[in-house]
Order: sequence, then structure tokens, then C-alpha cells
Amino acid sequence: MARVLVTRHLPDGGLEPLAHAGHELVTRTDDVPFTHAELIAAAAEVDAIVCLLTDRIDREVLEAAASAGRLKVVANVAVGYDNIDVRAAADLGIAVCNTPGVLDETTADLAFLLILAASRLAHDAEADLRGGRWKGWGIMQYLGRDVHAATLGLVGFGRIGQAVARRAAGFGMNVLHHTRHDTGITGWVGDLDRMLGEADVVSLHVPLTDATRHLIGERELGLMRPTSVLVNTARGPVVDEAALAAALEAGTIFAAGLDVFEREPEVHPALLAAPRTVMLPHVGSATTATRTRMATVASEGARAVLAGEQPPNLVSP
Ligand code: DGY
Repeated sequence: MARVLVTRHLPDGGLEPLAHAGHELVTRTDDVPFTHAELIAAAAEVDAIVCLLTDRIDREVLEAAASAGRLKVVANVAVGYDNIDVRAAADLGIAVCNTPGVLDETTADLAFLLILAASRLAHDAEADLRGGRWKGWGIMQYLGRDVHAATLGLVGFGRIGQAVARRAAGFGMNVLHHTRHDTGITGWVGDLDRMLGEADVVSLHVPLTDATRHLIGERELGLMRPTSVLVNTARGPVVDEAALAAALEAGTIFAAGLDVFEREPEVHPALLAAPRTVMLPHVGSATTATRTRMATVASEGARAVLAGEQPPNLVSP
């Protein structure tokens, strides 16, 4: 029997694979996030960690665990794993698992919600209605951009990007996608700058890495059209928030839909004040069914590593 640290409350049933295998689950009753110092101390006393994307599992945490000689696996209840130093984990012989495949459709739904809401200025219109500022139908009010038949530029074309593309096809959109390597699929654009200039809607679906940090900054925003919309459901730091706020303020892009932020839970004050911006608090995968599947997949990965098996959701640097 192994000891497994579970850093936060997870949806009911999400820990079933570990519980069923008879492992001891160490949880907090208060559901308060661990501080970094608490994580360092706790990691040294367990064989596995099931954590969230808000837990920073850096080299310091992993080295403390490795020197205690117990920790075998860190299972992140998320597909993105930029919160874990995967290089350090590999150096120390600690496996890392994530949750690919189970949140694609749910996250794509949310990306499409933001595409629609930002393009049609739904947030501004609703805010006026709720605030008592709507004085009746007006022919010049809340004039958004059509989504149907528009050109969608997907930056990244993994499972979630492809799920967004399927939805876009139903709206009659012309779908382009940019990846570094030719996908061989119709719509591939090798030159990101060109795609930014052609797309009416740019939707981001890349992981956060050194190569994608501030992938969309002042220069890239300057390549987009004054009529175009930027949607980010990937990771906040992929976009330079200050530059985005400036572009929205200056009207060099039309609107933005954001589910992720550079320094969550903080949101850049200029972005909070920016016009034509719809923002959600990182809820891309937030349905009961999907969050339960994510917890189960992470738990199953940890269980497999503890049993000496090779889980399919192992990540490497
Ligand atoms: C992930 O899994 O990386 C998502 O951001 C969670 O919604």
C-alpha cells in the first residue's frame, strides 16, 4: 500500500482507481491550497502526488521528495503540465502523468462560446442590460462580427484545436490552422504571421512552453485586422496581456475572449478595463462529467506507476 497526497478536493469518484487499489489517500479537510513550503514538506512523505494545475511542482519540491526517496509519480489533474518541472522530474526518476483526451470536447465548447460571445459583444450587451443601461432596441447597438462564414485561424492543432475546427465547420467557417510542422491537412498555414493577417478569429490551442510564451505580443497583434477577434483558452502567458489590452483600447483588434490569464487568479488591470473583452475564470474543462474524468485519468496514471505499469498518459520533457 502506498501513500498518495491529493492536494485538493476532487470530484466524487475521481480517486476510485487509487482507493480501489488500497492506497492510503492523504487529503486536507480544509481544501485550502498548499503553500510551496507545505508542498515541499508533504512531498517527502508520500509515494505519489495527485495535484492540480495551481500547484507548483518545481525542482525544489521534487528534489525534497527525491532525497526522501519515496516519490514515484506526480499526476496532474489537467492536460497542461507547465506547473510541473518535467525536466527535473525526469532527472530524478519521478514519473509525471496528465489527462489527455478527456477534456477536448468540453474545452472546445468553451472556446466556441468565447468565439461567439466576443464576436457578438455578448458581454457588453448583457452588462448594459443588467446595469439598467439598455433603453430599447436600436439599429446601431452592439454591432458585432459574424461568426458564420468567417475565417478561423487556429494556433495549434492538437486534439482541442481539432475539436474547435469541427464546431467551426458547422458554422460554415473557413478553417485555417498553424503548426510548426506541416499537418498535411487542408488549411495548414506554415507562416503564423500570414494566418494572423488572414483570420477573422484567432483561437489559441498551444501548450505553454518557452517557445510559446508571449507568442502573441504587440507585433503579432499588430498583424491582426481591426475587425478580428482573439480567443485564448490555452494558457495565459501565451499572450502578452498588456499588449492585448493596448490593442483592444486602440481598436487595432475588434474583441477578445479569454479563459486564461498570465498571473491567475490576478488579471491585468488594463485588461479588466479593456473594451469588447469577455473573460471567464479558467473554466474550459469545468463540467462535472469532464472534471470527474480528469480526476479518474490522473488517479489511474498514478495507480499504474505505483503498480510498476506504464500508463498511457505519461509525459516526458
Ligand atoms: C488543463 O487541463 O490544462 C486545463 O487548463 C484545465 O481546464
